[in-house]
Amino acid sequence: MAAQPANTVQALREELGQRLQAARQTPRAMPAECYTSSDYLALERDQLFRTQWICIGHAGEIAKPGDYYTTELVDEQLVVVRDKAGQVKVLSNVCRHRGNVVARGAGHAARFTCGYHGWTYGIDGHLLAAPLMQESAGFQKSQCHLHEFRCELWQEYIFVNLDGAASSLREALEPIAPVIKNYHPAEQNFLFGAEEVWNTNWKCVVENFMEGYHLSPLHPTTLHPITPTALCEKLPNGAAFTGYRSNFNPTCPERGPYHPDLSEKERRSDVFYSVFPSFVVGFCPHFTLYMCTRPLTPDTVAIRWGVTGNASDPTSKVVTDYVQLCKDFCAEDRRELEQLQKGLKSRYYQPGPLAPDNFEGTVHDIIDYMARHLGLSSNTAALK
Ligand code: FES
Ligand SMILES: [Fe+2]
Repeated sequence: MAAQPANTVQALREELGQRLQAARQTPRAMPAECYTSSDYLALERDQLFRTQWICIGHAGEIAKPGDYYTTELVDEQLVVVRDKAGQVKVLSNVCRHRGNVVARGAGHAARFTCGYHGWTYGIDGHLLAAPLMQESAGFQKSQCHLHEFRCELWQEYIFVNLDGAASSLREALEPIAPVIKNYHPAEQNFLFGAEEVWNTNWKCVVENFMEGYHLSPLHPTTLHPITPTALCEKLPNGAAFTGYRSNFNPTCPERGPYHPDLSEKERRSDVFYSVFPSFVVGFCPHFTLYMCTRPLTPDTVAIRWGVTGNASDPTSKVVTDYVQLCKDFCAEDRRELEQLQKGLKSRYYQPGPLAPDNFEGTVHDIIDYMARHLGLSSNTAALK
């Protein structure tokens, strides 16, 4: 019999609330409409992407003062810039005159000039000049600073909190610190960056990155020989993150160059974390791979991804080989996730059971997070 589609966001929220209350022993996937409904995405945009810490890139992308790139997050136009003091700032890329977008693309700038009427801003967002405005009643140059969003760096990843009210990110991620400290991620070199749009829901990308269950069946030649599904281990989760370790096949050769502080276990495994809701990162002995996801529509996601590592030359063979491996297994993931998105629209699909914790416990943690933030109890009080 066909499952009845949940026809309201309210019904989806109550369903999520029930997931939170259900025993951990019987975890199931999220309702399909959580991946396909525009109304549900509107809720996520308002109640997650505007209120939580959202990673939008790596500080290595803007290494020198004046370097910048533009991006968009839930219809906010942003310019991410390294100021003269070397600090990373996230500014609203919207002109204080009549709202045009100020900076375009990416590059290096001494100032930003709006293309519409020529207002010019410093790279810290202060208005420097506004042609012919001296005699305009009510114009005060000092009141026309580009809005600055709250920003925190964690291991050189740039996180923005649009509503400015989130609690400290660094504190929430403190439990991860001892697990990743030997990799010294903040000292790694930025080696590769790209942005892509995939035809799938943003949560499909996050869940996929975070579960080892698919490694052997979906990546038989790229990842299975290195990190087969059977050797995956769940790591402790927290309110703001979840993680797992994928241990190397004993026949897999050593992967270097690695940091000399890495333990034997760290040299023979990869560690994956998701910083909820939308950032994922994998620490390998030799490189770190990350993805910042941003929803565009229920069926499309922007992915800003990159690679950092101990190697210093981005054109060296060890780097280009690893980036190519990432492109190869990402192409396998993308092909499958774009099909998954079609399957999720079926009225006959009912959310299935999840695999044991070592393989899909991270997905259950993601569902718990969604339920805590967006779920409702049956009497419609928000669950917190
Ligand atoms: S909108 Fe930017 S100068 Fe007019
Ligand atoms: Fe994968």
